Amino acid sequence: MNETLRRLMERLLGKTEDGRLPGAPSLDGTAMEALLRLERLAQIGRMTAAFAHDARTPMHVISSALETMAAGAGGRGAARVELRAAQRSSKKLLHMLNDILDFAKGERGPIKDHTLEEAAEAALSLVETTCSKHGIAVKRLWGRTPATKFHLRAIEGVFYNVFNNAIDAMPDGGSLTVKTASNKKSFWASVRDTGGGMSPETLARLSSPGFTTKESGSGMGLYLSRQILAESGGELDFESQEGKGTTVTLRFKRKT
Ligand SMILES: Nc1ncnc2c1ncn2[C@@H]1O[C@H](COP(=O)(O)OP(=O)(O)OP(=O)(O)O)[C@@H](O)[C@H]1O
Ligand SMILES: [Mg+2]
Repeated sequence: MNETLRRLMERLLGKTEDGRLPGAPSLDGTAMEALLRLERLAQIGRMTAAFAHDARTPMHVISSALETMAAGAGGRGAARVELRAAQRSSKKLLHMLNDILDFAKGERGPIKDHTLEEAAEAALSLVETTCSKHGIAVKRLWGRTPATKFHLRAIEGVFYNVFNNAIDAMPDGGSLTVKTASNKKSFWASVRDTGGGMSPETLARLSSPGFTTKESGSGMGLYLSRQILAESGGELDFESQEGKGTTVTLRFKRKT
């Protein structure tokens, strides 16, 4: 048994007075497998934190170089727009790396009052250049939703994933409509695309970890999005028709 796993077992099971691990001899194969899985996850966590830490320096260099280039691109419209988009994306990456480090340190960052429109706008600013390149028209239909306490970057991340899924579903262009609304009981943001839609089989498997129909997809986007929303008291709904498009709704109950 390796040292880390032994310590993990001691923490989980507690040591007896004579230093033996109670229950250790009777650990069956399933319990052992679960412990090994935990140990692997802990190892991945440590590697990810180290990666996030080391990747921040080159990302800062890239981000500030992009800022200088964007400032120098003067009147050259298209280049400037692209550089600004690259700069926003590099900032987003830096935020993500900081989030990983905060999480590794046990800090979740500030939870303050925000609106869904604010989170959606932050994510839209990251995808608008991609949308225009793919002939996707972005429409905003902002209603009034109440300010509520959530982790802004986490909810922005949910929108970002939902927008990217919509973009992937419209390789030949279309429209992406983001709408917010509320009633007495709840408030929500819906994201509608005019893409290929989903088959009933795909709909049934959505949000299972690792489920993807894309060559380079991780299939973790919606799974993690649901978890993030659940932490903030929200949920994700899907409506989709093959050949017509998909509407994804982020819904929150009003606090009474
Ligand atoms: N708007 C959409 N239109 C059509 N299919 C969708 C849409 N949103 C999600 N899907 C389907 O759900 C699957 C899972 O989505 P999810 O975001 O969890 O992972 P992914 O997009 O495949 O991978 P990743 O998020 O890592 O890029 C997608 O592969 C796709 O088949
Ligand atoms: Mg996705």
